[in-house]
Amino acid sequence: MGKSLRFERVAVLGAEVTGIDLTDDLSNELIAEIDEGLLEHRVLFFRDQDLSGDQLVALSRRFGESFVQPALADRFQELLIIETNKNRPPYLNTFHQDMTGLPEPPGLHFLHALVVPEGGGDTMWSCNYAAYEGLSERFQSMLDGMTCTHSLLKYYARIFARWENGEQKKKEFEERFPPISHPLVRAHPRTGRKSLFINRFFTDRIDGLNADESDALLEFLLRQIERPEFCVRLRWRVGTLAIWDNRCTSHYAVADYFPQRRKMQRASVEGERVS
Ligand code: SIN
Repeated sequence: MGKSLRFERVAVLGAEVTGIDLTDDLSNELIAEIDEGLLEHRVLFFRDQDLSGDQLVALSRRFGESFVQPALADRFQELLIIETNKNRPPYLNTFHQDMTGLPEPPGLHFLHALVVPEGGGDTMWSCNYAAYEGLSERFQSMLDGMTCTHSLLKYYARIFARWENGEQKKKEFEERFPPISHPLVRAHPRTGRKSLFINRFFTDRIDGLNADESDALLEFLLRQIERPEFCVRLRWRVGTLAIWDNRCTSHYAVADYFPQRRKMQRASVEGERVS
């Protein structure tokens, strides 16, 4: 395959990709190169991409079926707008993997900057492979085979409490999305590489441990994921696109720009059962 793209590694994860205009009619070979780059670097950054919402969704569909965020499905389908401003302060400043309370959490996200604050508003990603691989073998083997209960309502109960139709949404989620167990150590379906699969939004407890044990171990492991050595940080410009693998990375939207405005558009691709 002729390599026309350039991937410049940024940190333990993340690469800047140059040599492509994503509004072009992209060949299957180019999509395959991006896909390979994503497997290797886990998050890719593309600058100066003048993509409409429809183009962003069309690009994401080259990588899989669209994932629709169920909490926001009344307002958004394939394209999600994430806007923060003086009336809606930044709120995603906790490391998390998206929607892990689902049996099949989303696989990939495509986040594109439409309005960025003058300073601040970066996004950070952490590598959940590196977090697992940074543990001793003895500790790793204790974690292998453990499972955790994840719950969408652990996060959304607080959010729904502020919504007009929140009570109805909460009931809907209780029925449609009961808590679910996933392996604590997940093997990536394509690379086979193992990673910690837990996050502060949705992971409720480690199954089979008492509450004190579970809280202490989870806190230790979550801090392991959040270590700066395992992170990369992106300074957005209008037109920057980040694509990341939600299976093996966690992300954090730095909340340091209130009351300025920041507006992003996001498309996502389905994942699979966690194993
Ligand atoms: C998200 O959590 O998906 C949004 C990240 C961001 O806006 O930087």
